[in-house]
Amino acid sequence: MDKFVIAGGTALEGEVATSGSKNAALPALAAALLTDKPVILRRIPKVRDIRTMQRLLVDIGTQVEVADETVQLRTERIVCPEAPYELVKTMRASSLVLGPLVARCGRARVSLPGGCAIGARPINLHIFGLEQLGARIHQEHGYIEAQAPDGLRGATVHFDRITVTGTEDLMMAAVLAKGETVLLNAAREPEVGDLAELLIQMGARIEGAGTSTIRIQGVDRLEGADHRIIPDRIEAGTFLIAGAITNGELAVTGCNPDHLGALVAKLQQAGVEVRQPDATTLRVRSGVPLRSVDMTTEEFPGFATDLQAQYMALMTQAEGIAIVVETIFENRFMHAQELARMGANIRLEGKQAIVAGPRLLTGAGVIASDLRASASLVLAALVAKGETVIDRVYHIDRGYERIEAKLAGVGANIRRVE
Ligand code: EPU
Repeated sequence: MDKFVIAGGTALEGEVATSGSKNAALPALAAALLTDKPVILRRIPKVRDIRTMQRLLVDIGTQVEVADETVQLRTERIVCPEAPYELVKTMRASSLVLGPLVARCGRARVSLPGGCAIGARPINLHIFGLEQLGARIHQEHGYIEAQAPDGLRGATVHFDRITVTGTEDLMMAAVLAKGETVLLNAAREPEVGDLAELLIQMGARIEGAGTSTIRIQGVDRLEGADHRIIPDRIEAGTFLIAGAITNGELAVTGCNPDHLGALVAKLQQAGVEVRQPDATTLRVRSGVPLRSVDMTTEEFPGFATDLQAQYMALMTQAEGIAIVVETIFENRFMHAQELARMGANIRLEGKQAIVAGPRLLTGAGVIASDLRASASLVLAALVAKGETVIDRVYHIDRGYERIEAKLAGVGANIRRVE
């Protein structure tokens, strides 16, 4: 198992580029199941979750050709409409094939995901939505089986709570359903908007993506498309925090600042200078001592839960007390104990973490428990005194493309050891 060895204390300086969004690329890949025509996707990040999704699609019957950041997919025929436990247990986003498979071939068999490091994460809302669209669903042997032999019918689906992949799954199911579907209380995340753009290019009729009401008029068939995935706002945000926490001056290029508003506002309140020299670059500089600022995670456009762990690392270096509240997942504070091993002062009380700073962090052996928790440990290690060894970095490889090379490129002392 690979580890990162990081010697802290260097201010990061220079430019670091943003890769394509993992969480936009995953549903875009699944959308290729909706047509027998070629779908070309550009700026696909080279991360493990993407490889897992490509493997799943190949098993289902998709031809997948990868050339650098471009992936060409063609699903002339669905051979096996199934997402097996072996894949779903390593990546919950595998359930994104459920909607497209039922829409394209009238049936799907998808493993239930089981436990997860950050919370229960059921897929009941995906199932509820498909039932509204007329699918018959039953559960057996840890799998859900969905059937719609005569096709899906448009319907109104009111989500009980906001779900990102649930909204995407239903949108993909509805584009080939008969008649109109209305998704209410839909997720407004930029990744949903990006998927809608791709589907519209394929011939789907969708209005309102990016708002909480999405209207979809079903069509008989979809065509191919050539689509460029949006930049990864979570990767970009992680780099902005890296610049701030190391007292550096870092330009994050190739990002979409409109997707990073909630983080930028918090950074500015904390005393970090954030400028936007051009449409796709954000530059951070943190000359003054950082101030503690409370933060609560929310659905977009609120502060992303996927940046909560990284923000907590930053707050260990800020003057005062910051209350960090996690409202999206029940158990997303695993990094707090590891940060405490490095010297952070963090008290957990249910949904909130109380972070008192600034604290001198010192290098230690720590364990990455999930993707974003690992990123927060990398950030803490960059500012810690001495050497930190982060174990189980396969978590970080799920969603960050060559993070050690990108950080080393702006001055970090980080290496991967096997
Ligand atoms: N929920 C339900 N029932 C459902 C679906 C969700 O109760 O059927 C609950 C979840 O348990 C959670 C909340 O609703 O408490 C929100 O979950 P959501 O469905 O929005 O999460 P997701 O779609 O499974 C995506 C991202 C996550 C990100 C969340 C929240 C992808 C592939 N994953 O997950 O990304 O944290 O939205 O923004 O898009 C990551 O990249 O590290 C990551 C975990």
